[in-house]
Amino acid sequence: MKVLVTGGCGYIGSHTVRALVNSGHDVLVLDNLVNGHRRAIDENVGFVAGDLEDRTLLAELFEAEKFDAVVHFAAFIEVGESVIDPLKFYQNNISNTLNLLQAMQTYGVKKMVFSSTCAVYGTPDTMPLTEELPCNPVSPYARAKYAIEWALEDCNTAWELGYTALRYFNAAGAASDGKIGEDHSPESHLIPIVLQVALGQREQVKIFGTDYDTPDGSCLRDYIHVEDLADAHVKALEVLAPGQKRIYNAGTGTPTSVRELIEVARKVTGHAIPAVEEGRRAGDVPELYANASKIRDDLGWQPRYAKLEDIVASAWKWHQAHPKGYDDRR
Ligand SMILES: NC(=O)c1ccc[n+]([C@@H]2O[C@H](COP(=O)([O-])OP(=O)(O)OC[C@H]3O[C@@H](n4cnc5c(N)ncnc54)[C@H](O)[C@@H]3O)[C@@H](O)[C@H]2O)c1
Repeated sequence: MKVLVTGGCGYIGSHTVRALVNSGHDVLVLDNLVNGHRRAIDENVGFVAGDLEDRTLLAELFEAEKFDAVVHFAAFIEVGESVIDPLKFYQNNISNTLNLLQAMQTYGVKKMVFSSTCAVYGTPDTMPLTEELPCNPVSPYARAKYAIEWALEDCNTAWELGYTALRYFNAAGAASDGKIGEDHSPESHLIPIVLQVALGQREQVKIFGTDYDTPDGSCLRDYIHVEDLADAHVKALEVLAPGQKRIYNAGTGTPTSVRELIEVARKVTGHAIPAVEEGRRAGDVPELYANASKIRDDLGWQPRYAKLEDIVASAWKWHQAHPKGYDDRR
């Protein structure tokens, strides 16, 4: 398939580009490199530096390339920043996605795999999360993602857009060969932060909230290896047909506490990783983990990285080899 991958130079996008190419697909990446890295994708992969806000560029690309499908990662991702500057997020994550959908409609491209998030569920009181639970997103980031889920549904009704929205849980780890990995700036994800302590780049890791109603008092999250997530995209894309609509939780279903994660990182790195306990952080949900049976049953998807040790070890391999991420000048 000829596939347009937006945001393909980002963390999850770059791993998915590799998986798509390895599965024989012809990939073109569109990324404005605001948060992505050119070096995260192979130089032989088609690449256009551009922004989804540029509708003329989109029209030219769709006219020239005759895409069969789109995998859409491009977005801003910092939940905290979205609270401070919601319009920035609504502009990029909603309006610019609408530009993309408009181009798809105009040029008759009827397949999209979309990066949604488990944050659309809001603060649920039942766990694990199933796709049927009501959504009640609380941050502008999550609300923008949910708005696009609605837009996809409406395009499905109006012009038979086929779509799969993958509601990611916590993407983690790095490519098994250690060549690509996570390099967000600023970094807000727990595993890279913990490993930066092990590398001596931070003094300590903060545990926000130790009095939650969870086994050890810290928050519970569901970590999915980025290559397993990439594989879910390939599987979702390959079965998708125009007119279909699918929504899947993309998680493993295994809850891991912040304390457990730090303990695993200590074991993997052999570093003491000092941790300090802080109060609860506004907006944090005590627990978020998936019931992932729908994606397993429908797509035959299975995570290859079942153990947290292996996920953290893959991230550690990347961070040790690239302590400054992709940018050696940093
Ligand atoms: N990382 C996670 O755990 C997680 C969890 C849930 C959902 N998601 C979603 O997955 C997607 C990818 O996340 P990531 O962690 O790889 O983020 P990332 O920031 O590493 O990647 C996003 C990419 O999109 C590009 N981009 C942003 N706006 C653009 C625009 N207007 N035009 C062109 N390119 C643009 C950036 O330069 C970057 O390369 C995002 O949509 C994010 O909301 C991520």
